[in-house]
Amino acid sequence: MSIFYDKEKRLFKLDTSDSTYVIGIYEENYILGLYYGAKIPDMNFGGFCKRLPSASFSLANPVIGETGFTPDTAPMEYGCNGAADFRISALCIKNAAGDRVTDIRYVGHRIFDGKKAIPGLPSTYANSPDEAQTLEIDAVDSVTGALVTLVYTVFNNSPVMTKSVRVRNTSQNTMWIERVYSACFDFVSMDFDLITIYGRHAKERNINRRPLGHGVQGVESKRGVSSHAQNPFAALARHTATEDSGEVYGFNFVYSGNFSALAECDFNDTTRFIMGINPTDFEWTLNPDDTFYAPEVVCVYTDKGIGEMSRIFHRFYNSNLIRGRFKTEKRPLLINSWEAAYFDFDTEKLLAFADVAKQLGIEMLVMDDGWFGHRDDDRSSLGDWYVNTKKLPGGLKPLIDGVHGKGLKFGIWYEPEMISPDSDIYRAHPDWIIHVENRQPMVGRHQYIADMSRQDVRDNIWNQMNDTLSKNDIDYVKWDFNRNISDAGSALLPKERKGEFFHRFILGTYELMERFTSTYPDILLEGCSGGGGRFDPGILYYSPQIWTSDNTDAVDRLDIQFGTSLCYPASCMGAHVSASTRTGYETKGRVAMWGTFGYELDPRKLTDEEREIVKQQVKDYHKYYWLHRNGDLYRVISPFEDKHKAAWEIVSQDKSEMLFTLVCMRQETNASLFIRFKGLDPEKYYVCEQDGETYSGAFLMNAGLNLTNKANADGESLTLYFKEK
Ligand code: GLA
Repeated sequence: MSIFYDKEKRLFKLDTSDSTYVIGIYEENYILGLYYGAKIPDMNFGGFCKRLPSASFSLANPVIGETGFTPDTAPMEYGCNGAADFRISALCIKNAAGDRVTDIRYVGHRIFDGKKAIPGLPSTYANSPDEAQTLEIDAVDSVTGALVTLVYTVFNNSPVMTKSVRVRNTSQNTMWIERVYSACFDFVSMDFDLITIYGRHAKERNINRRPLGHGVQGVESKRGVSSHAQNPFAALARHTATEDSGEVYGFNFVYSGNFSALAECDFNDTTRFIMGINPTDFEWTLNPDDTFYAPEVVCVYTDKGIGEMSRIFHRFYNSNLIRGRFKTEKRPLLINSWEAAYFDFDTEKLLAFADVAKQLGIEMLVMDDGWFGHRDDDRSSLGDWYVNTKKLPGGLKPLIDGVHGKGLKFGIWYEPEMISPDSDIYRAHPDWIIHVENRQPMVGRHQYIADMSRQDVRDNIWNQMNDTLSKNDIDYVKWDFNRNISDAGSALLPKERKGEFFHRFILGTYELMERFTSTYPDILLEGCSGGGGRFDPGILYYSPQIWTSDNTDAVDRLDIQFGTSLCYPASCMGAHVSASTRTGYETKGRVAMWGTFGYELDPRKLTDEEREIVKQQVKDYHKYYWLHRNGDLYRVISPFEDKHKAAWEIVSQDKSEMLFTLVCMRQETNASLFIRFKGLDPEKYYVCEQDGETYSGAFLMNAGLNLTNKANADGESLTLYFKEK
């Protein structure tokens, strides 16, 4: 049993493997969030309900009286708008009279084994009913008749809790949801740093750490996608927390659209944290009996530092988010045509790539952008998903047969949610793009966006894709999305539902992705958005890997991959060796091997020497495959903290092997370097493959090794592989 209810005290206690979360029902059925942190056995939370002093004037519930309890300062489990809780609110519902006061009170609850899926949305799952328990608390706003269900799942084998919310209209009147966050936490202190990951195209997921201050702070996206700019991830780490120690709370939103993650510190030095759909440009009409489902937030607690938070996310996503055949099966080592040829290819050239790739041991050829319509550059044909027979005479079959005939698998690129102005689909259906009446929509990379909120648009795109996928033997699809959403509107949405557009768009995308994965469970899907512009757990639910960045330079990739690793596992992190020139092929390979690994270059142009390096990399890829896939990541030197070096380890779950990689970004003169390794078993003895020596885990972790002058020139790198003796 992980969820306990103490009927007398009216307290819920939700235990994961290493954390406890406590919710209390107070007088007048206020729902209070009383504790989140390390595991505790008892529930003496009586004194936690009231906080004094108040900001300026105490506003009290008249039935309770002015006893010191006020929503202004109480730890509200799900803070609502307008009823004396003045902090950033999680919920605001406008009723038929136009009032926005929202005040929910406990009416009942259910506890059950396992975890339910959320209709229409990606979410994490329990592999068996005894892996998790779920609590659903029903709360009602008696004036509007909104029935708000707060949903919590705790996992027995990891310190993970998920939160989501649904709102049902039990009244006879229409109501409008103006904001509905998925998670709300009230912490009793503000002794936290906020850690977020920001970036831009080709420089995704940089780590930002800042101390919380009084007032509201946080990150959001209004771009229609989770975006390059800010990722739907946030952590609250104690000021003293480091990579290897201290309390950290990590939050990741399982959603690919507009989001918001905000922390507010108040006059009592407490912290409210909320995460959910961005309320900007959001309003949802809820007719009688309708239900709105808000996506879920994955919440991780650890007192063992930021590194351990990452490892908890990684293991959890590998086992409870990623689905399908490739969750456990080995994925093919691929070569992608993009940086090799851009739009300039034909069947002959691709088959020539395949020839060399085969000699090198590569297992799959992916034909990227440019195979459809009359697409010779990025100005046309998105939406016309039929083969360009000038480039591929006779269609896909001769190419695919040729590639398969050489013993390679074959993959193809799509950008299903886009429409080029120069396309047959646009000429026939100009109203199928996202637009607002009387406004000329913006273009981005010369393209418009298909109105995914429309069933007919989705059906058309699906029928085109399905036609190709059903008639050809395709092993892999890359699903791209190369601009952000502006001019958000649909020709079909009536005036009163225009605020639903952004969410309906992403629901439409999810519906199409679900059609894809359920119809073609054997095709490996890789997400993409101008590199890593839609790198979030929502996409991971459909595609077990995501292209991390269009920047394939090994040194730049260090920042990108370190930042990505804050919450996303190596198994999903698309990483390729390209012809970029800043480092040699050894370093490019070592950096890419951290992720899904592959090539993004014209293999015919490799020198003999480079070919030998590639062949060795292919061997190493197989040798270390399961270590990378299932191992634990330890960040040793972060490029965000050190200008010169970056280093990381992958340690197998049973601690019997470890691969250490060190990369020199910039040479440092006269500097010594000692590395104390992490995550090993102090009792075990390990043989280092490179120096042939045997060391105890205790030695490696406490004394470490002297790596002075090793890999000390710009772009140089080394790996050390340790195996239990
Ligand atoms: C995006 C992707 C690239 C490539 C191009 C094709 O930028 O990130 O990998 O697929 O689109 O146009």
